[in-house]
Amino acid sequence: MSFKISFKGYTERINKKLDECLISQGSLTKSMRYSVLSGGKRFRPILTYAVANTFSTDLNRADSSACAVELIHAYSLIHDDLPAMDDDDTRHNQPACHRKFGEAQAILTGDGLQALAFETLVNDHNISSEMRIKLLQALTHASFEMAEGQSIDLSVVSQVIDIKTLKNMHRKKTGALLNCSIKLGALLSDQCNKKDFEILDDFSADIGLAYQIQDDVLDVLTPQSILGKKQNSDVDKNKPTYPALLGLKESQKTFQKLYDQAQERLGALSVNADELQALAAQLHAREF
Ligand code: IPE
Ligand code: IPE
Ligand code: MG
Ligand code: MG
Ligand code: MG
Repeated sequence: MSFKISFKGYTERINKKLDECLISQGSLTKSMRYSVLSGGKRFRPILTYAVANTFSTDLNRADSSACAVELIHAYSLIHDDLPAMDDDDTRHNQPACHRKFGEAQAILTGDGLQALAFETLVNDHNISSEMRIKLLQALTHASFEMAEGQSIDLSVVSQVIDIKTLKNMHRKKTGALLNCSIKLGALLSDQCNKKDFEILDDFSADIGLAYQIQDDVLDVLTPQSILGKKQNSDVDKNKPTYPALLGLKESQKTFQKLYDQAQERLGALSVNADELQALAAQLHAREF
């Protein structure tokens, strides 16, 4: 099995599609483009494309879903950085949206991106209206879960919480949208059978939780110049995180185990999963 698969093609594709999406948002165009096109690893849309491709689905059908998940993600980051939330000044190595455009404009930029995500999906006439409703159901559900997860995150600041509460928070604030990114690719794929769908659901649950635990670990270990956002933001804000609760070593072991488990699950898919294996390995090895 090759882990040398490059995802550059998907990155270029999503960057082009996002650029095309963000041209006529009037007074919000500038701030939306600033936040969406400034960087980001694009792992969520890459997951959507990789799942679609794994089942030989035409990627033109996946473009609107890929854009939609990244637009929701970009909105979540703008709001996450606001003074009322994590109060962080830097994102993608540049001033956070509210530092550049002011708080009110940043809130509205997030609102606009959320609406644009749904609009992009609902107006995709390459896909049947029945399918669009299914995709929208998954995306609206995940967006709500993300918002709820963020609400839990803020409600437990400075508190000692148990691992079950922390896991639930991470699954919601980050896992839900990663799960949805995979689900959209699966829904679009005629060749994805019920068992494949279940396997991918479990795969994405592992990946989603692992991704946020890893984000907590990177917050402690990685300097701002690499991270593109402030180091030690969590500890400075007294956030309950995996490293705070379990320690660094145990947290690293926990996310490594989840990635391994996720990769093992892929073996049971009805199709060749090399690309998804490689992607999971790339997520696992990320440095920022
Ligand atoms: C950061 O997500 C916030 C989380 C939900 C963990 P990413 O690390 O995927 O953010 P970008 O888009 O690549 O900057
Ligand atoms: C963010 O979690 C989760 C979101 C839904 C945006 P964090 O607050 O840990 O994300 P970063 O570290 O600021 O990117
Ligand atoms: Mg946060
Ligand atoms: Mg944050
Ligand atoms: Mg973080």
